[in-house]
Amino acid sequence: MKVSLPPQTLMLTYPILIVGSYDAGGKPNIMTAAWGGIACSQPPCISVSLREATLTYHNICASGAFTVNFASEKYVREADFVGMVSGRDTDKFNVAQLTPVKSKQVNAPFVDEFPLSLECKLFKKIPLGSHTMFVGEIMGIVSDQNILGQNGAPDVGKAHPFVWGSSPKMGYYSLGEPVGFGFSSGKEIQHQ
Ligand SMILES: Cc1cc2nc3c(=O)[nH]c(=O)nc-3n(C[C@H](O)[C@H](O)[C@H](O)COP(=O)(O)O)c2cc1C
Repeated sequence: MKVSLPPQTLMLTYPILIVGSYDAGGKPNIMTAAWGGIACSQPPCISVSLREATLTYHNICASGAFTVNFASEKYVREADFVGMVSGRDTDKFNVAQLTPVKSKQVNAPFVDEFPLSLECKLFKKIPLGSHTMFVGEIMGIVSDQNILGQNGAPDVGKAHPFVWGSSPKMGYYSLGEPVGFGFSSGKEIQHQ
């Protein structure tokens, strides 16, 4: 039996994107965004949707750049914390004991402790309503060497990322073993 639910931003799981930016005085800031994801392959783009009330919104408008950082599981508390307080009131890097490093590619800081960071130049800014979508072109990537797999690409199993689930209790979830493989598992059906 199916039931109908009211329209809402329901996707079961959401990425946890830690958005890094500089304010007008060059002070580094980070915030958590769950509304976002890869937006285009060529040019390579990622989007984050932000409320105008955030400091990050204004930082990106002024600097034209941001980073998207992926925390590993051991930084779940830090990732949640930077989503609860504003850089207007708190030096979040300092309080969370995280290290800002200036990107070589764009005018934005990345988080040294996190295994993977995308360095983005603002490509498009699309007002949608409560949120404005910032589409960033990925100009570079900084990765911990020790998460690289044999093919030289960052390995999900080594980076230990986590996702957010809206219900129940807004939990953060770790990833288990793969249950299938892209462009491969479906061949069993395709060729039957
Ligand atoms: C799990 C989680 C997800 C969030 N996702 C978003 C989001 O997608 N967009 C947004 O504007 N705020 C989001 N927030 C809230 C911001 O992170 C929060 O308002 C933050 O204090 C803004 O920081 P800033 O003012 O330093 O930029 C989220 C918070 C949490 C904890």
